[in-house]
Amino acid sequence: MKIKSWLECINCLKSYDLFDLRYTCKCGGLLDVKRDLSRVNSKKLVRKWEERWGMKNGAASSGVWRYKELILDTDRKNIVSKQEGNTRLYPSGKAGLYAGLPKLLLKHEGENPTGSFKDRGMTCGTTAANIIGAKIVACASTGNTSASMAAYAAKAGFKSVIFIPSGKIAYGKLAQALAYGGKTLQVEGNFDDAMALVQDVCKELNIYLLNSINPFRIEGQKAICFEILQQLDWNVPDWFIIPGGNLGNNTALSKALMELYELEIIKKIPRIAVIQAAGANPLYTMWKNKTSFVPVKNPETIATAIKIGNPISWEKSLRGIEWSNGVVEEATEQEIMEAKAMVDAAGIGAEPASCCVVAGAKKLVAAGVIDKKASAVGILTGNLLKDPDAVINYHFDKLRGIGVNGQFKNMPVQIPATIEAVKRAIDN
Ligand code: F0G
Repeated sequence: MKIKSWLECINCLKSYDLFDLRYTCKCGGLLDVKRDLSRVNSKKLVRKWEERWGMKNGAASSGVWRYKELILDTDRKNIVSKQEGNTRLYPSGKAGLYAGLPKLLLKHEGENPTGSFKDRGMTCGTTAANIIGAKIVACASTGNTSASMAAYAAKAGFKSVIFIPSGKIAYGKLAQALAYGGKTLQVEGNFDDAMALVQDVCKELNIYLLNSINPFRIEGQKAICFEILQQLDWNVPDWFIIPGGNLGNNTALSKALMELYELEIIKKIPRIAVIQAAGANPLYTMWKNKTSFVPVKNPETIATAIKIGNPISWEKSLRGIEWSNGVVEEATEQEIMEAKAMVDAAGIGAEPASCCVVAGAKKLVAAGVIDKKASAVGILTGNLLKDPDAVINYHFDKLRGIGVNGQFKNMPVQIPATIEAVKRAIDN
């Protein structure tokens, strides 16, 4: 039996039909997908998820649709899937030692089909688009959402329209958007300008909006949490550590935990640490100073994925952080790139925004907020190859202009074609 679900405003609690074509309430508040969990048999539910683990094909072989009861319970024919999820959970090795948190595990969402966690939200968002009968989808993006949307739209046969801040997204991501056939609009301004524009355009031109203001995106991204806990045999770590940009992903994480807790599938509430880049830190500033939310006007960071000054989901994000007794931290450019060098040198590798996790963990351990013996799972959100420029510039020590010294750099060595020269290079 399907679980009854509907849309509900986070502020005035007004409810709407699940597939009502809207992203905000009449009062302007953000919408959540709500479910009546009162009659769910948790044991049976977990048993089903365990049976689906390792399935070779069909929707249940996806690391999102395996959990469809708490994501979007719909017929197979509606589902747009690329067998997303099923990503690895690595011991953090050098990166954890660097952070002073040896029990840190890293969930590598960069191993998704288009190289970021966005595929989990996008499979759900494009499936909702299918159900609603949309033919054109759109998003504003710092790169990964657009890459993912373009791929899923191509699979579903939708036209996709992408709004990116002109000249400000990493090349790997732009390449994907173009390659998958997204109509790519380079908007003058930053991500926040593009985000404001796409919302107006979608309303005006009746295009389906696939940013994380779309509650189905959040539902899909909850699967990161479900999958991590299933990989841990439902043992809950002390901490989850996650980067924050538009603040959808940590919203999804806390919502997943709230539902599992309500169902008594987990009995402990882990604490959530959200890490922002210091140059794009409105949530951190609000959190630290206990003030109201003030957007950052000109966000700036090498972690372009999270170069966002006016995150759309900050209220939902804050709700989850408070529920989990969580914290918010920030990381400077130097801290992000140094942590990235460690994540990469551990043989794991991720893009700069993802590495905020390790940079933030290090600071929170040093401050005594996270105990060094604690168990923690950090979410690496994007693949190393998304932003090769950041990697090359770091290892060539070309980031001093933005205050980053490449102390862990690994420069290539130019040699003449002789065995002697090779020997010398190796011995050095
Ligand atoms: N890490 C990566 C690699 C991202 O691409 C993003 C967001 C985040 C972290 C932050 O997640 O926004 O849910 O807090 N990228 C969006 C995009 C904004 O357009 O690709 P968030």
